Amino acid sequence: MEKLLIEGGRELVGEVRVSGAKNAALPLLAATLLAPGTHELTNVPDLRDTRTILAIISELGCVWRRQGSTLYIDSTDLVFSEVSYDLVKTMRASVLVLGPLLARLGRAKVSLPGGCAIGERPINFHIRGFERLGVRCTLENGYVDARRDDDMRGSTIHFDIPSVTATENMLMAAVLARGTTVLKNAAREPEIGNLIDMLANMGADIEGKGTDQITIRGVSNLTAARTAIIPDRIETGTYLIAVAAAGGQATITGCEPAHLPALLDKLMEAGVEISSAPGTISVGMDPGRRRRLRGVDIKTMVYPGYPTDLQAQFMALMTLSSGICVIKETIFENRFMHVAELRRLGAQIQTEGNSAVVTGRGPQGLSGARVMATDLRASSSLVIAALAASGRTEISRIYHLERGYENLVDKLSGLGARVWKEKE
Ligand code: EPZ
Repeated sequence: MEKLLIEGGRELVGEVRVSGAKNAALPLLAATLLAPGTHELTNVPDLRDTRTILAIISELGCVWRRQGSTLYIDSTDLVFSEVSYDLVKTMRASVLVLGPLLARLGRAKVSLPGGCAIGERPINFHIRGFERLGVRCTLENGYVDARRDDDMRGSTIHFDIPSVTATENMLMAAVLARGTTVLKNAAREPEIGNLIDMLANMGADIEGKGTDQITIRGVSNLTAARTAIIPDRIETGTYLIAVAAAGGQATITGCEPAHLPALLDKLMEAGVEISSAPGTISVGMDPGRRRRLRGVDIKTMVYPGYPTDLQAQFMALMTLSSGICVIKETIFENRFMHVAELRRLGAQIQTEGNSAVVTGRGPQGLSGARVMATDLRASSSLVIAALAASGRTEISRIYHLERGYENLVDKLSGLGARVWKEKE
């Protein structure tokens, strides 16, 4: 295993280009199973998680090749096969192949994902949705075995919680169903809009993109298409927060400012200089002014509210403020794994249930230490804190980071950070 070392206390200056969105690439790669032929996806990040979904669709008979950030996937020879626990346990988003497999082949057998560090992560909304479409699902030996005896039939599906991947799974299952399906209380994240665009490119008939009610009129067949993956808004937010924490001046390029309304508001409220133009966001915090970084409360919500995937990163920033703030996590039941590690760097944080009270200790408040990554976004929170801390920080178990941040060491080094990897 490898660890990441960071010599903190250096300003971040320059320009960094973000990659395509991990949480768009995963459903869109799964959607290539819906139609035979060669699909083309551009701006696809090369991450541990995208390699996992590619391993899964290869196991299902697809052939793919990568040319830079473009992927060509030929799913003509799709065959039914189980998606094993070994692959699913590393990435719960593997359940996203259920919808397309049921639509194209009428059968799917995927290992239940199991929980992860941030929560139990059930898939009951997915199962209930498939059953509404006429699919029989049995759960045995840790697998979901789903099959339909004849065509899926359109139905109305109401989500208790606007689940992102459940919405995506239902979209992919319903596009080839007989009749019309209406998704109510659907999730509205930009990644879902990207999936809807891809399905439309393939010939699907979908209305309601960007709203919480999506209508899908089933069609008889779909064809392979070319679609661009949208920029990664969580990677964008991570770099914005990193510059605000370390101090400096940088421009994030290849991003979509419109996908980060809540974060940009909160950063400006905290006293960070933010300006945006099409495809770019500039962020500035001169080290002197960091003294006046204000404490700002956040409460994670479904899109377009403040994203849960940027909660840990913002907490790292708030430990450097000159105020107190309350951070409330409403999406996942255990997403404060980074708190204990941030405390090792000197942070003052008290947690009570799904709320954390952060008492900022000013820009010199953190000092380097050895810490451990526990999940993807918690690990990026530790990177941000380490960049602002005085001295050296060692972060172990960085395979968590590699799931969702492409070329992190190169991108941070390009901004002037002293960061490198070593063998554990
Ligand atoms: C997606 O996960 C993202 N992953 C997560 O990003 C993100 O944190 C999450 O949405 C929320 O925005 C991908 O898109 C691959 P949910 P997902 O279903 O779809 C409960 C990252 O760091 N729920 O929207 O799994 C669930 O427990 C990852 O990139 C059920 O109860 O999240 C949670 O409390 C982490 N039953 C809430 O809904 C279900 O069947 C929202 O989860 C499904 C979900």
